[in-house]
Amino acid sequence: MTRTITPLIAGNWKMNGLRSAVEELGELARLMTTGDAPRAMVVVCPPATILHAVANRGATSGILAGGQDCHPAASGAHTGDISAAMLADAGAQYVIVGHSERRATYGETDELVRAKAEAAIGAGLRPIICVGETEAERDSGEAEAVVAAQLAGSVPESGGEHGVVVAYEPVWAIGTGRTPRNEEIAAMHNRIRAVLVERFGDGGESVRILYGGSMKPQNAREILAIENVNGGLVGGASLLAKDFYTIISAV
Ligand code: PGA
Repeated sequence: MTRTITPLIAGNWKMNGLRSAVEELGELARLMTTGDAPRAMVVVCPPATILHAVANRGATSGILAGGQDCHPAASGAHTGDISAAMLADAGAQYVIVGHSERRATYGETDELVRAKAEAAIGAGLRPIICVGETEAERDSGEAEAVVAAQLAGSVPESGGEHGVVVAYEPVWAIGTGRTPRNEEIAAMHNRIRAVLVERFGDGGESVRILYGGSMKPQNAREILAIENVNGGLVGGASLLAKDFYTIISAV
């Protein structure tokens, strides 16, 4: 059943990208429109300062834009924060919530991540909800239980609808060049699918489950071929158009 899901490749630029980076997106747009038509949906999540420019630049070549975080409230006295409606207004269609860097740096809890995902849905965005275990949790055999608990806490009740996306990102694989073995990715993605189907029924069958953590041109093809891997959330390798396009083409 999951075979009918169109894969999604999302680039997470993190805190990288001045206005000049929009030119790199022009290069990606050129590759996407002159090469073979991509078999994946493509989303780029730049810093909020250039989100509007990225959304505009990508619009003509099928590159969608996303935010990297949002506040759970619609508006108000939250200095420095950005609401989901603001992201949507700037041209975003997706927003990453609960990235492990935010969970670790700002102590974001599952409850907060769920509230952010709900705010995103309320603003018409598709949340990309991140989950993933630490190295210690994997070493002690708890990885699947940790991820199942994060899913239970972070994915809203309407998680089987509204184009909600889950990203499995083992914390120890992010930015390290290390990835789990293919069997480990397969086991985790199958478990995530089972958890989603148990909770949402048919809706859980169609949720995209992305893999993230050191996905790069060299390993994208084999990771994307794993059952229940419906795309990727790509950090470092999304910053260079050529590398990101190679990953997109690996679908
Ligand atoms: P990475 O980051 O591809 O640089 O490991 C992935 C992510 O943090 O989303």
